[in-house]
Amino acid sequence: SKTKAGVKGLVDSGVAKIPRFFVLPVEILHKASTKSGTSISSVTNGASESVKVEVPVIDLEGCTGPRRAEIVGEIRAAAEEWGFFQMVNHGIPKRVMEDLKKSIRRFHEQPNEQKMKWYSQDVWKRIRYYSYGYLHSSAPANWRDSLACNFQDLPIDMEALPQACRGETSEYMKCVARLKETLSELLSEALGLRSDYLASLNCMKSRYLLSHYYPVCPEPELTLGVTNHSDPYFLTILLQDNVGGLQVLHQNQWVDIPYLDGALVANIGDLMQIVTNDKFKSVEHRVLAGRVGPRVSAACFFYPSTANSFEPYGPIMELLSEDNPPLYRQVHYKEYASLYVSKGLDGKTDLLAVV
Ligand code: SIN
Ligand code: FE2
Repeated sequence: SKTKAGVKGLVDSGVAKIPRFFVLPVEILHKASTKSGTSISSVTNGASESVKVEVPVIDLEGCTGPRRAEIVGEIRAAAEEWGFFQMVNHGIPKRVMEDLKKSIRRFHEQPNEQKMKWYSQDVWKRIRYYSYGYLHSSAPANWRDSLACNFQDLPIDMEALPQACRGETSEYMKCVARLKETLSELLSEALGLRSDYLASLNCMKSRYLLSHYYPVCPEPELTLGVTNHSDPYFLTILLQDNVGGLQVLHQNQWVDIPYLDGALVANIGDLMQIVTNDKFKSVEHRVLAGRVGPRVSAACFFYPSTANSFEPYGPIMELLSEDNPPLYRQVHYKEYASLYVSKGLDGKTDLLAVV
């Protein structure tokens, strides 16, 4: 077929109007207002004060030294109140991050025939290129193309990766695994548990990298790069570029997560909310479609060891008490992932209804 692939293919063919199946209902587009500026005024006891509303930025420098307690406190507050934080001095070299972003562009901008070798609609395929989101669900299409690499908990097989981003992806995956170990300890301590507690659950041993490409959009006010959703697994580490458009829902307002030179974003997933019995929040986020771009990002999800895939996850015993009874049943991550996929990206999965 001469048809070019993906959303990029549509843009390259010169469409001035977006196809109907990208047009989102206004209830989704205007679910909440967008907060502009960085502060809101609040009146407390008659005194007006300016409150800064900004996704927390956490400096991980010195987290093995005397600053550790302070950093753990910041992570606790961010995980409880935002479900999101940005990290600086996280240990991943700037060059590794820049190279990955360049290679994602290279993959998505290579000739159609090359990309189509990887095209699949099978969500369980380990390496695949796809577009439009979840075609089999009723969820609306997203204005982005993606390359999914599900490494599970296996060593990285370079040969299995597309040539355009092979070395860059494997280099980044090595670095991001180390950062995940650090966060696993800090998050455990933020829960008041032994630093190896989350590691002992094997809940973040597998990794799944989604490398997204958001082409410019001729009618950005009618669609979204990705519709509001929360991430299904335990933890996500996100690398974004300087184009912008990522927003998190905070106190019922969309708040921008701006590009910060050298930073990475971390966010709590649904399964982490379940095991922490709602202490840590898995929060809805979205990406706007834009007239400038393309935008690229790489989201690395951490999920349970595929070797112990019979293990179900539920609220951590040590966190429960008479005043804090379990809010969720035990759920197998594959069961949860299947429910998530069948629902498609369309708002936050109703955890309480499902689990
Ligand atoms: C996502 O949450 O699906 C993607 C986030 C991003 O591209 O920044
Ligand atoms: Fe996400």
